[in-house]
Amino acid sequence: MRIAIEIQTLTEVRSWIERVCSIVARHCNSSAIDPHNLNMLRAHFACGSDVLVDSETIYNRTSGDFFLRYGLANLMKNYYALSELQGLGILSRISRIIDVGSGPGTFALAYVLWAKTHATTLSCPMSIVMTDSAREPLALFDKIWSELPEVERNLVKITKVHQTCTSDLPSTAEADLIVFSNSISEILRSSHCRYDDLCQNLAGSHATILVIDHYYRDTERLLNEFARRMVEHRKLVSLYHWNRWNNVFDEVNLLPIAHRVRFSETHSQRIDSNVKFLKAIFRPSDGKGHASPPPRTTHSVQMYKRAWEQHDLNILRELFTEDATYQEKPHSAPLQGIEKICEYWKQNALRQRFVRFMPKFVDFHNDSMIVLWEASFFRVDLNRWMYLDGSFNATFRQGRICAFSEKFNKLTSAFPLNDRNH
Ligand SMILES: C[S@@+](CC[C@H](N)C(=O)[O-])C[C@H]1O[C@@H](n2cnc3c(N)ncnc32)[C@H](O)[C@@H]1O
Repeated sequence: MRIAIEIQTLTEVRSWIERVCSIVARHCNSSAIDPHNLNMLRAHFACGSDVLVDSETIYNRTSGDFFLRYGLANLMKNYYALSELQGLGILSRISRIIDVGSGPGTFALAYVLWAKTHATTLSCPMSIVMTDSAREPLALFDKIWSELPEVERNLVKITKVHQTCTSDLPSTAEADLIVFSNSISEILRSSHCRYDDLCQNLAGSHATILVIDHYYRDTERLLNEFARRMVEHRKLVSLYHWNRWNNVFDEVNLLPIAHRVRFSETHSQRIDSNVKFLKAIFRPSDGKGHASPPPRTTHSVQMYKRAWEQHDLNILRELFTEDATYQEKPHSAPLQGIEKICEYWKQNALRQRFVRFMPKFVDFHNDSMIVLWEASFFRVDLNRWMYLDGSFNATFRQGRICAFSEKFNKLTSAFPLNDRNH
């Protein structure tokens, strides 16, 4: 039986987005997502509709449906990107952001959620300039924003600019971060885009550039070319070791997620999504836009990775407190104390070969850290390869883990599986 790998972060993101979706559903005055609008959007994503209907018209007509259908997944992607920027030590240095093709403010909303839960680590308030060529998504954002509690609105200063991105970006020179969340392919393929000038402007800015997008066959050439131009002038940085598409974009594959959109007292709709996307972070290579030292969480995950992959008990002793508890499976009794933990790991060292541990997503709240991960190794006693996906929760005391619990799903194979992220 597969264990549902739930994480606290996801539960919070979901309940928050359900709240926001109910605001959107109310404002759209609709009883469900319009299938015709959804088809129009899908055709547009895959470039099928460009000749018939332009991007602006489509998003003006479908902004509510877009949010209700894709809001949770896109918010989760942006939240993930924020966790990565934090882990790289970049986020704490940022105070001015431009979100290009912002739609109904997905990035800004993800930031509010992030800031709510990580208040101590951020330089608040953040300034976010949202720009979009369509008016309706920006207007929808206003409606959502006006219903958020004041404490949440105070976390970010929002400026909205109704503007088609051709090559210039509003006050590019002053931004610390430029975000293209699910918008760069659309912008590049638009007839308005002055491709060379846009690349030059981006390359010349001192901002870090975050790109989140999908692979679409019809925009592959443009995305490839854009990636090539960016790495000519900028440094590609990444915290997690995902497989790469075209040597630049990480192929991020988080959890499948579901949420319910309530349209009325009696009617609700379940939305299922895979949080699977391409992501790249380009830092200026001129020394500007320095990162702070990576936070403690990043360091601990790297230590855990080394401890497991090298079966190094010394690292384990550094990582855990003397009296740490360690629960390997949800219903098993926790091991008590570092000696018991080391004994258990020693057994593993005898049985496991070629261990690869890959953190997929790290988040932290106060003194606890949540890690989504994948791992693989060869079990010598069983003569089989093991593939695990799971999550762990670690609570820290004075920089060391004092309580650890994990859960995972397992797949075994007589042969190594090559198509996984290891
Ligand atoms: C797929 S939506 C993404 C919205 C949001 N960033 C998200 O991740 O949910 C793409 C957005 O890009 C905007 N867009 C497309 N081409 C644009 C252009 N040339 N300039 C500005 N915005 C553009 C669209 O209006 C739309 O709101």
